[in-house]
Amino acid sequence: GSHILSVNQFDRESIERVFDVANQMVPYAKRQKRTTVLEGAILGNLFFEPSTRTRVSFGTAFNLLGGEVRETTGMSNSALAKGESLYDTARVLSGYSDIITMRHPDSGSVAEFSQGSRVPVINGGDGANEHPTQALLDLYTIQKELLYHGGNIDGLHIAMMGDLKYGRTVHSLSKLLCLFKNIRFTLISPKELAMPDSILSAIEDAGHRYTISETIEGNFDADICYQTRVQEERFGSQEEANLYRGKFRLNQQIYTKHFQSKTVIMHPLPRDSRTEANELDNDLNMNPNLAIFRQTDNGVLVRMALFALTLGVEDIVSKFDKEVHW
Ligand code: CP
Repeated sequence: GSHILSVNQFDRESIERVFDVANQMVPYAKRQKRTTVLEGAILGNLFFEPSTRTRVSFGTAFNLLGGEVRETTGMSNSALAKGESLYDTARVLSGYSDIITMRHPDSGSVAEFSQGSRVPVINGGDGANEHPTQALLDLYTIQKELLYHGGNIDGLHIAMMGDLKYGRTVHSLSKLLCLFKNIRFTLISPKELAMPDSILSAIEDAGHRYTISETIEGNFDADICYQTRVQEERFGSQEEANLYRGKFRLNQQIYTKHFQSKTVIMHPLPRDSRTEANELDNDLNMNPNLAIFRQTDNGVLVRMALFALTLGVEDIVSKFDKEVHW
């Protein structure tokens, strides 16, 4: 029944529990089975920053468990625009919901909101700080992809690439990986967009190794290549963001030259498709190691598991099974 604000709240045991429950959600997500375990429950889905997959997959996950979803999108559509505090907003909206998911442009805002909430709050991304549910679905995806390749998370070599300064997904994922053994990080970014010192310290404190590279050169024997978008909404100006857009491009040619043929390609999405030199080229779409849409599908399973565990219904989902009639 508690909030999910940061990946710091998780240990290996609780992650395994989330993944076990996520595995049990497969037939419901595939619409082979239907459950009404959360019938009558209401999710307040509050998104004060643009989102496609996090917002819709939270809503879909809650619907698949039988619950209803109330949406609030955009700061200008809420009383926050009239100067209402996050605390008051939380007091009000938690009276209308059984659980709240929230995204907001400011670091720490979801934690601040949770102080006023009388129901559990799940962080759907707070500024450049954290995106814990994305990190869990990424880790779930890594585990599934590596099982396919016969490996496991301990001993993983991950290359993280692009905007490592503002990319909250790589911050949360790095912290989760610190819980495992013998992880190698290759961090590829311009130095202006380097991984924050706090994350580098966490990697060192956990006894892991990292290498920093400003260019894609040589051969990276990485198991995973995790590409990110230049988070232009966090820069001072569009001009500043444009200095970096298209710089850390990954396409089939670059992949073949610098990565192993088994390297799994991940990206939290959205990928920027507005320039010729986008960071993840469409010519990779037929590459079987491109896991981006397996990540988005896994997001529903992991978010179903987090709702079920937070609301304490994980063991009784199947008792509320109904037949599927279509
Ligand atoms: N990965 C992710 O957070 O995507 P959205 O911004 O579409 O939610």
